[in-house]
Amino acid sequence: MSSTKKLIVGNWKMNLTIHEASVYVHHLVTKVQSHRDVEVVLSPTMLALQPISLQIDRRQFKLAAQNFYWRDHGAFTGEVSASQLRGLVDYAIVGHSERRHIFHEHHKEVRSKVQAALRNNIKPILCVGETAHERMSGEMRDVLHDQILGGLTNVTSSDMSEIVIAYEPVWALSDGTNYSEHKVPTPDDLKKAIGTIRNQISHLYGEKASKEVRVLYGGSTNGSNAASFLSVEGVNGLLVGGASLNQHEFVKIIETAHGMESK
Ligand code: PGA
Repeated sequence: MSSTKKLIVGNWKMNLTIHEASVYVHHLVTKVQSHRDVEVVLSPTMLALQPISLQIDRRQFKLAAQNFYWRDHGAFTGEVSASQLRGLVDYAIVGHSERRHIFHEHHKEVRSKVQAALRNNIKPILCVGETAHERMSGEMRDVLHDQILGGLTNVTSSDMSEIVIAYEPVWALSDGTNYSEHKVPTPDDLKKAIGTIRNQISHLYGEKASKEVRVLYGGSTNGSNAASFLSVEGVNGLLVGGASLNQHEFVKIIETAHGMESK
């Protein structure tokens, strides 16, 4: 597969105050080694992006926004746009299942956000994944197809190098604390889902794009199970939720990614 560099993204969700985030980063800076083969991205609360950007060395950590609004500016009280995040973040998470299910974001918003990120030089991390019910009903493939098509409509072949896709089966996501004992996909399940995603990219953008697009896995990843996900063919990295708030676990995940051959 394309990228030999692993991408490890820590999604802190709605946790840590600005001060707590800053203290946490202060510790991470001393514990996370920079490796040429691993790119580490932190996604703190929107409020902490600016202070953390002053605290980090971009060669060690990059930043991602957890969310943003798709218009660039205007009368949208309370919103933050991708154009306001431009230069501050390298990535932005789009279509996370919590945005889809709690905030009712559908294909149209997801697609508009992907476009807004791209026009502001931010790489979208497009999250896709089926719920437990959809999985039980044998709809995994259809759901992934719909979410990929829904998110990538209007994305050109040349934009594809900027896109990251994260496969996050909703049934495998932790509540932020139970990531060590939560149900996760088997390597075979994961291989099948990643294959489905890459096949669809191949169908839409050709074989080269399908090999080169970076695809992450997310859902109850931790220091002990990271290797089993990272060794599945076609997995280029992890989107880590709960375990990214635990220094020990997060550092272990990064060290696991370091030196793992991409298949
Ligand atoms: P989790 O979250 O690792 O806590 O399951 C992942 C995510 O929601 O991105």
